[in-house]
Amino acid sequence: MDSREIAESYLSFFKKQGHAVIPPAPLVPPDDPTTLFTSSGMQQLVPYLKGEIHPMGKRLVDAQPCFRAEDIDEVGDNRHTTFFTMLGNWSLGDYFKTEQLAWFWQWLTEELKLPKDRLAVTVFEGNQDVKKDETSAKIWQALGLTKEQIWYYPAQKNWWSRSGEPEKMPAGEIGGPDSEVFFEFTQVKHDPKFGKTCHPNCDCGRWLEIGNSVFMEYEKQADASFKPLPKQNVDFGGGLERLTAASQNQPDIFQTDIFVELIKADPTENLSDNRLIADHLRASVAMINEGISPGNKKQGYILRRLIRRAAIKFNDPKNLTDFIKYFQPQTEAAAVLNDEIKKFSTSLAIGKKVLSRAKTIDEALAFDIFQSYGLPFEVIAAVTQVKLNRAKFEALLEQHSQKSRTASAGMFKGGLADQSEITTKYHTATHLLQAALRQVLGIHVRQEGSNITADRLRFDFAHPQALSEAEMQRVEELMNAKITANLPVVKTIEAKDTALKSGAMAFFRENYPNKVSVYTIGDFSKELCGGPHVGSTAAIGGVKLVKQESIGAGKRRIYAVLKEIYQPGAET
Ligand code: GLY
Repeated sequence: MDSREIAESYLSFFKKQGHAVIPPAPLVPPDDPTTLFTSSGMQQLVPYLKGEIHPMGKRLVDAQPCFRAEDIDEVGDNRHTTFFTMLGNWSLGDYFKTEQLAWFWQWLTEELKLPKDRLAVTVFEGNQDVKKDETSAKIWQALGLTKEQIWYYPAQKNWWSRSGEPEKMPAGEIGGPDSEVFFEFTQVKHDPKFGKTCHPNCDCGRWLEIGNSVFMEYEKQADASFKPLPKQNVDFGGGLERLTAASQNQPDIFQTDIFVELIKADPTENLSDNRLIADHLRASVAMINEGISPGNKKQGYILRRLIRRAAIKFNDPKNLTDFIKYFQPQTEAAAVLNDEIKKFSTSLAIGKKVLSRAKTIDEALAFDIFQSYGLPFEVIAAVTQVKLNRAKFEALLEQHSQKSRTASAGMFKGGLADQSEITTKYHTATHLLQAALRQVLGIHVRQEGSNITADRLRFDFAHPQALSEAEMQRVEELMNAKITANLPVVKTIEAKDTALKSGAMAFFRENYPNKVSVYTIGDFSKELCGGPHVGSTAAIGGVKLVKQESIGAGKRRIYAVLKEIYQPGAET
């Protein structure tokens, strides 16, 4: 099967088991300032894994494009990529271990037709908080796996959360023990460099992890203990690239149908460099197609880094331009890539001059050069051949980002910034803003887009002209009056038609399933929404409308900031 057939087979198999196919989230999560990219299928489902009712039911499945910045240094081997498609299925408090492990096994062995004796599974060996997962081991045995095919590993390998093992999870983060399936490429000889004997989690390339069933049952608490979630959930994720490699018995994912055209071009003599170039350009094209431009902040910084890390592999960065044609990228993506490579060639030449004149080359200088010329850390390290400390460089970047009020704690490494409280306030404030605009300007006002970061909310709507100062003031006063009134924010699950008939506002009408969650704020606002929201409006504290602008004929955009973080004159 080729990769497309594999994805289709997975979705249709789980559909047969009663799962609804949900649309994948955008690569940049629209309302989540805690992380730069969607890096797993479960990301858009966090509120539902925590107990909210999902409008499409308790069994969900999708194919989610993901980007993992934290894997950037692993790229070059036979199996790591920054950008990939994750096949995912979820039980939101419905089925649990027995069904999940049996279904995945059935799909692997009957649909993908992977030979059973080339598969092994791993389960959690237990720790002080959560006991050894003998239940999963028994289920695997009942499915016909031998004891030799079932391996126990500690939390470092068999615990999953977005932040990694239990100690790394921030308070409020969810996670749990997991059970992974590995495929053995018997044609690959074990490399003793990676240890005396080979085993599923050995990094020599003989074994490949192809799927991970997470038993999402716990929420980390502020005192570092683990509280059971209201329901036991399943969160399965399997990389399409790796499943394709197993299905094609091809130990190098870069030789599967997904990459083969790219890698055939063999732009440099070095296999690992070629893999890096292929991965980074593929990821860059995906990002550009979602509207990201290369820059020095947030997603733009990661995109710039990817392009420049690929370009530095050539003697002349401009040679990367020749390689781009193998991508058949959309013209716009090719234009952005070429433009960035041109900029890079110029700044590389200047940066090299500055570096050659410098007396000492340290992380502070590297950061200065990055700020002035956009040369990423690894490019500076490659040009100077000086061993620089990446953590120190990242700390400077972090400090700088904090100063410019961006939410970046841990985000560049793929971790989560702890901003969920602020985001929640902005979510509710957005509902208040829409209701206030409709009261002040008229009921033609409807949300046409919105975006929330840790710094502000942004709201787009149709209105023929700029708001007068008096109108801006009235909207702001009305919102603050509703905040002071401390109205309850109540969530109900309703049939879509009933909710719409009762006057609830909806952003994308046609995309909503039949059962929807509706948030009502006193008698002021009623909207279809996935949340999360504050319990009552006083929690928002207060808001300031800081800016309005036109975004095309008859379309306006307003920015609002929470009073608690408002800085007069600050850029939005
Ligand atoms: N959410 C499961 C995984 O990423 O492996």
